[in-house]
Amino acid sequence: MIYLDSAATTMQKPAAVAASTAWAVNHLASPGRGGHRPAMAAAEKAFACREAAARLFHVNDPERVVFTFNATHGLNIAIKTLARPGSRVVVSGYEHNAVTRPLHALEASVRVARGPVFDQEAALEAFRRELDRGADLAVCNHVSNVFGFIQPIEEIAALCRERETPLIVDASQSAGCVPLDFESLGAAFIAMPGHKGLYGPQGTGLLLCGTDPAPLLEGGTGSESRRQAMPDFLPDRLEAGTHNVAGIAGLTEGLRFVERRGVERIAAQEARLIRRMGKGLRAMPGVEVFQSREGEVQAGVLSFRIKGRDCEELGEELGRRGIALRAGLHCAPLAHETVGTLETGTLRASVSAFNTEGEIDKFLQTLRKLGHS
Ligand code: ALA
Repeated sequence: MIYLDSAATTMQKPAAVAASTAWAVNHLASPGRGGHRPAMAAAEKAFACREAAARLFHVNDPERVVFTFNATHGLNIAIKTLARPGSRVVVSGYEHNAVTRPLHALEASVRVARGPVFDQEAALEAFRRELDRGADLAVCNHVSNVFGFIQPIEEIAALCRERETPLIVDASQSAGCVPLDFESLGAAFIAMPGHKGLYGPQGTGLLLCGTDPAPLLEGGTGSESRRQAMPDFLPDRLEAGTHNVAGIAGLTEGLRFVERRGVERIAAQEARLIRRMGKGLRAMPGVEVFQSREGEVQAGVLSFRIKGRDCEELGEELGRRGIALRAGLHCAPLAHETVGTLETGTLRASVSAFNTEGEIDKFLQTLRKLGHS
C-alpha cells in the first residue's frame, strides 16, 4: 500500500509512538486521580507532552497547552468561547466544516474573506477588507486541507492584532508540517489534531490558549473538588473527565520526532514530493492539477481531477490498486466552492515525512496504467 492520505491521518508513525501508547495502557493510570505511582507517572507523562508541544510551538507556559480529542474539539471550545449569536465573524475561503458548522450552529454572522488559491497577497487583502468592515472574531486555517495552500498567517495575525480582533487559527494541516509560533502570532487560540503532522494516535489533539477559555464540558478534574464551578485555571478548566493517557503518551513521542527532525526539514521534504507529483500529473492529458507556481510555497497536500472521471470512483479504483488517497469534498465544501470544485470534488494526495520519491513515481505509474497517460 502506498499511503497518500496523511492529511486525514498519518498512518506511518515513528516506532516509539505505538510502543509508548502500548506501554501506557499497562503502566499509567490517570493524572490528578491519586498519589500512587501509576497516577503520578501519568501526570508526569501529560506534563512532558505539554512541554514538548510548548517547545515546538513556542508557548511560554506549558499549562496553556490543553489536551483535546481532536482539532474539531479544540475549535469548538475556541469558537464557543468567542462567538455568540449574531457575532460578526470573518473566515477565510478555505475553512473546514469543523469551523463553519459550529459558527452555523451558533447563528453567527459569517463573512468570507475570499481569495484565489495560492495567492497569499489576495488572501491578506481579503482579510484586511473584511476586518475593516467590522468584526468580532476572525478564524483562519493555516494550511488548506484540500489544496495545501499556506495562508499568510503571520500577516493576518498582525492585521487582527492591530484591530484588536481575536483570532482563532486552525492548524490542523500545518502543525508539524509548517513552522508555527504561538507567542509571535498572539492568537486567541490555535487548535490542532495530534494524529496528522504530529504523528500521534487518533483521538488526540491540542488547543493552545492565548485567552481565557469557556469550558465545553464540565466534570471532574481532580482539582478543587468541593467547588461546583469548573476551576478557573488551565489546563484543568478545559480538561474534565479522564484523559486519553495512552494517546498522550504516543503523541509525546510524535512531538519529539518532529522536534528532532525539524519542521523546516519536514516541510522541505513534503514540498519536494508534492512538486514531483504535480509535475507527473500535469504531463497526463486531461488532468487538472491544483498547484502553486514554481518557487511558491505549498504544503504536502495536492488536489487534482481528471476530465470525464468521477473523483470518488477513481479514488476507489486507486484504493483497489494499493494507493490510499481521499476523494470528494474532504469535509471542506467552502474550500471547494472558493476554488470552483464544489460540483466535482477532487482527488487529494497528501504526504508525510515517511513518503519517498519512489512511492510518488509508483502512484503516477498506477494512474498511467489506468489509462491516464
Ligand atoms: N479533515 C481531515 C481531512 O482533510 C479528516 O481528510
